[in-house]
Amino acid sequence: MKTVVITGSARGFGYAMIELFRKKGFHVVLSDINQKALQEAEEKLKKIPSKAKILSFVTDVTKEEEIQHLIEETLKETNTIDIWINNAGVNQPNLPIWDVPKDVLDRLLEIDLKGTILCSKLIMKVMMKQHYGQIFNVEGHGSNDAVITGLSIYGTSKRAVSYFTDALAHECDDLKTGVYVGKITPGIMITNFIHTSLGDGETISLDEKTKKVYNILGDTPETIAEYMVDKIIQNKKNHAKFTWLTNRKAAWRFITSAFRKRNFFE
Ligand SMILES: NC(=O)c1ccc[n+]([C@@H]2O[C@H](COP(=O)([O-])OP(=O)(O)OC[C@H]3O[C@@H](n4cnc5c(N)ncnc54)[C@H](O)[C@@H]3O)[C@@H](O)[C@H]2O)c1
Repeated sequence: MKTVVITGSARGFGYAMIELFRKKGFHVVLSDINQKALQEAEEKLKKIPSKAKILSFVTDVTKEEEIQHLIEETLKETNTIDIWINNAGVNQPNLPIWDVPKDVLDRLLEIDLKGTILCSKLIMKVMMKQHYGQIFNVEGHGSNDAVITGLSIYGTSKRAVSYFTDALAHECDDLKTGVYVGKITPGIMITNFIHTSLGDGETISLDEKTKKVYNILGDTPETIAEYMVDKIIQNKKNHAKFTWLTNRKAAWRFITSAFRKRNFFE
């Protein structure tokens, strides 16, 4: 049986993916900073019948000792870690760059960028010993160089996550590690993320124009997880990139939006 660890998997996209991995027979490892959501997620997962294990850890991806604990305790139970997904991520308050407070700037970069780097660095050591394993990093706004006022600190961090992923995949090849590294590009997901900054921080109020765009381009995390988890399980190469909201799909959504009424905000 294979093992998957997903950071930030107590809710949203991370949880939607982990549920599918359980349905497909994987040992699943929940990890999140939010203890209450983690317990609820574990209870929900237990209702899905499977002989595979469910492990659960309160882990802040900015804390090395907590990530190390998650890795060591998982290995005691499962012997290997086959797939690791760096999914934990937070949004920013809707502010121009010069108004973002320093503590918000620090925390966002700590989680979205440094958390991904730190987890990758620690799990690489395990996967190199195994001579196999796959790491996937979740991209977001900014990864493709797009700019939206009020989202630029988040965008900067996700642009850097993309560069980091390319660099890690390159080093994995160059140094013949046997580890595959790839990107997951989910598009717009209707989750807590779009409503709150810094995880469970301040509410972000969405104006009507933004809601309209999200209604056209957005999807539930379950829909996107369904697509991504199959791609991840079938992946056989380094440097893979799985994109849900392609330019073609986005254009089609806009063209057909008059006939395809959706409202995620009722
Ligand atoms: N929602 C979107 O539109 C969207 C679009 C593109 C990319 N993404 C990315 O997808 C990923 C998942 O987002 P989501 O929409 O499911 O959001 P979400 O808020 O529903 O889930 C994120 C999870 O990460 C956890 N988390 C926050 N800080 C953490 C920390 N320091 N350590 C460990 N866990 C932490 C939260 O508690 C939460 O359970 C993020 O990386 C996000 O940037 C989201």
